[in-house]
Amino acid sequence: MATALERSVRRFGERWGEPDVVVRAPGRVNLIGEHTDYNDGYTMPMALPFDTVIALGSHGDQATGPVEIDAAGFGEVVLDPAADPRDAPTWARHLAGVIALTHVPAGGWRATIDTDIPTGASLSSSAALEVAAITALLARAGVRRSPIDVARLGQRIENEVVGLPSGIMDQFISAGAVAGHASLMDCRALTLTPTPLPSGAVVAILDTSTRRVLAEAAYGERRTSCERAARDIGVPALRDATSADLERVRDDTDRRRARHVISENERTLSAAEAMTADDAVELGRLMSASHRSLRDDFAVSGPGLDRIVEVAADAPGCLGARMTGGGFAGCAVALVRADEADAFAADVVARYHHDGLTARVWICAPAAGAEVVTADARPA
Ligand code: GLA
Repeated sequence: MATALERSVRRFGERWGEPDVVVRAPGRVNLIGEHTDYNDGYTMPMALPFDTVIALGSHGDQATGPVEIDAAGFGEVVLDPAADPRDAPTWARHLAGVIALTHVPAGGWRATIDTDIPTGASLSSSAALEVAAITALLARAGVRRSPIDVARLGQRIENEVVGLPSGIMDQFISAGAVAGHASLMDCRALTLTPTPLPSGAVVAILDTSTRRVLAEAAYGERRTSCERAARDIGVPALRDATSADLERVRDDTDRRRARHVISENERTLSAAEAMTADDAVELGRLMSASHRSLRDDFAVSGPGLDRIVEVAADAPGCLGARMTGGGFAGCAVALVRADEADAFAADVVARYHHDGLTARVWICAPAAGAEVVTADARPA
């Protein structure tokens, strides 16, 4: 089957000829460190070998000219660079945000977009779209920006244009991942430390086939709870708190939310140590503990996610499993012994059934972050 790269370049060719710039940006899975990024904490994401690809060609006035987009699975739209990006159709708001907020000439182009990242599955398809489009516009203008600058811009688009109060993790790993490694992300220092997966273990993405609906409100509530808890404790962010501080949190629900964040930061740092020490068993144990904390204290799991994590735990070669990303629906992630990966995948697919849905399982090696695809690497 053709990849997103092949499909987007072919479609551009059919419509408009040769693109000037082609960029791929990956989706991500987070191994551990969930709902910690907006608490200035630690996460351990890796980029997936699934990309969103944009093929872009200049056309007309590069400051004010209209932007014509053909996005597979979504449709076509013409955007006016002078318009308020929040007035764009919902699916195109990320792109309108890129046009409004990337400080380079952002008008006068047409593009085809395609993706291999399942949408609404907690694998960061929107972050990949933002990072791909920002990187393409910067490349067209001949401007270089660091991954964190690209990521911050993507996060601003989510926060200010799309209206989601999300953290920095998704855009930062899509922009800055190093192939073959997960990355310990310090969301206060804004650094990525490439960290190897333990030898003999692989990462499996487990798709529950459930999809997120209206999870935005719950995400905002979790964030507010964490901020209230930090205020009660008297620290700038929960990153600065320890479990001994929890008794100062007044509200019971806020205290449980904070207990997740504080323990998750500890688990993430322990996971980084386990990975450096090549200890797959300990990493798997921490991942399973993370799931319980997200389910019981942070209350962001869901029936499909709980079910697939349970099924995975009993499958051959499983070292640990947990929900990944924002939660409620979408994908889980498991650490699996490499020599049992095929048996693991077959067993999860055979035993997971939820609401008439079946599972898909992908064994994924950590991919590289966003990049301009050079002309000789493009499909003919
Ligand atoms: C979503 C957000 C991220 C992060 C995760 C939870 O993916 O976009 O910033 O908060 O949820 O860890």
